[in-house]
Amino acid sequence: MCGIFGIVAAKERELGPVLVEAGKRLSYRGYDSVGCATLSAGGAIDLRKDVGKVEEVASRHRLAQMRGLRGMTQLRWATFGAPSRANAQPHLDSSGEMVGAHNGNVVNNVELRAQFLAEGMTVRSTNDGESCVHAVERHIRQGATVLESIGRAARDLQGDYAYLLGRADEKVLYAFKKGSGLVAGVGDGFTCVASDLPCLLPLTRRVLRIRDGEAVVLHADRLELFDAATGTRVEREPEEVTETMEAAQKGGYPHFMLKEIHEQPQVARELIHLLGASKHVAPFVERLRRARHLYLVACGTSYHAALLGAVYFARLAGKPAVPVLAPQFLAQYVPALGAEDAGLFVSQSGETKDVLNALEAARAQGAAVLGLVNVLGSTLMTASDRYLPLACGYEISVPATKTFVNQCVAFLHLALRLGGRPVRTLDGLPALLQETIESAEPQVAALAPQLVDKEDLYCLGYGLTYPIALEGALKLKEVTYAHCEGMLSTEFKHGPLSAVRQGYPVLFAGQSEDVPLLVSGINECACRGARTVVVSQDDPRLRANAGDLVVLPPADPLLSAILAVVPLQLLAYRLSVARGFDPDFPRNLSKTLTVD
Ligand code: AGP
Repeated sequence: MCGIFGIVAAKERELGPVLVEAGKRLSYRGYDSVGCATLSAGGAIDLRKDVGKVEEVASRHRLAQMRGLRGMTQLRWATFGAPSRANAQPHLDSSGEMVGAHNGNVVNNVELRAQFLAEGMTVRSTNDGESCVHAVERHIRQGATVLESIGRAARDLQGDYAYLLGRADEKVLYAFKKGSGLVAGVGDGFTCVASDLPCLLPLTRRVLRIRDGEAVVLHADRLELFDAATGTRVEREPEEVTETMEAAQKGGYPHFMLKEIHEQPQVARELIHLLGASKHVAPFVERLRRARHLYLVACGTSYHAALLGAVYFARLAGKPAVPVLAPQFLAQYVPALGAEDAGLFVSQSGETKDVLNALEAARAQGAAVLGLVNVLGSTLMTASDRYLPLACGYEISVPATKTFVNQCVAFLHLALRLGGRPVRTLDGLPALLQETIESAEPQVAALAPQLVDKEDLYCLGYGLTYPIALEGALKLKEVTYAHCEGMLSTEFKHGPLSAVRQGYPVLFAGQSEDVPLLVSGINECACRGARTVVVSQDDPRLRANAGDLVVLPPADPLLSAILAVVPLQLLAYRLSVARGFDPDFPRNLSKTLTVD
């Protein structure tokens, strides 16, 4: 996930050290290349950028020595296209008199680049940050002011992004926000702006949170805020913030896990836009279609998403796919694998050794190897014939949450495309995820005290919600250390039912389609004394039978399966905290499992 920082000083000075330190503070977001630009009082632009870590690029290009009145730094996290010096940011306009950088995704980048070239502009990279610069340049060329151009460029640039730019012949910087984070600050003799608050905190505590559609003009001594669409001034004063650095990194949440659960609507929105506009999806889908046998290979949470993916593929595209845990793939399918087959390897980290072993074994058999991965530049990304990004940004908390949701989004998108169906089915998901978080939080808060001392639980699901039950159970055991087993609800009567006694907790992940089956499962347990908790859409039959009902908003069953994971994530989080544990760093677990 890229990050930007900009500063406007009252007097020309060595800005390099400030830019490098800001870059280091943005580095937790994940990146593969770094760049800085300074603009001198005399109108010269000094641009230095390269692939590598902040420290490496700083020493290779002597970034600390850069001087100017204004400066910007950008950390790029490649979404598509290899990380390269040309694609690193910031970028110049055609004449080299304006420089800018962005974070986020401009999803119509390919189309825009073609337009800019046809209009005679000089396009030097394939990076979408450059499109932000040219989108503004296009309107300046037609005689508009920079602010007017920013307002008009917003109509051309589709996606979620924020950008920053400066012109050689001025003394200000401009920044604009649409969908991605942007915070401006006022210090003693300077103003600054960045993708997030933690980047600004060591410099100033007087900050102005920029809203979508707003442009901010940074002067050395003040900020001016505008509604970019109308050009009208927005009167909002900077506020004094009191957060510590650590609290700010957590975005005001007590733990990264809760922050990342709350980020799910936004990351889903960004991935839906990205996949909808990407030219990489069609050939990916074609490779899946051509596969004689298709395997969805993963571990842990990623495997649960693969299970849901297989249900989507069968239901929406009539395409059988075999979800399989990576080490078992070696024993069960690799010996029979051939060149007509394909493996889709799914991993948040892209470094899970079990998954990489499986990929290498599949490649050795001549099968196609495809990747679905969050961490770009990871081994899985480079080892795959083709890959698609999950575009979640860094997931810091060990329990995977937002990456699971985006894995499900990616699978649903691929299944709809494979089946020749409209992908707009997914459009309502971000708002539904938001509604689910808001409605589930109080329901889960009321439920948690009644489950906090349970050491043994089951979590059951069926069909679309079977993978969700497994994922809910994994979240619960991972952060509460209680035993929680996920299972197909219909299997419960084939053995585990014997564990049920008075007060024994059985959770159900359900949805409207399966109410009759849910009612029978609930009663099978309740009549033996179980305490049943159901996560599903509201239904009088569930109200009449369930011990507790955590209500999901009404939704298409394809989406409601994804929604059902949210209350289970929140329950796991609450129980972990109530039991005195740190959900972000559960004992014995690691975020990246690079061992066999
Ligand atoms: C999920 O909460 C776990 N941390 C774990 O199961 C994880 O999903 C598994 O180790 C696979 O990781 P990956 O997606 O990075 O390959």
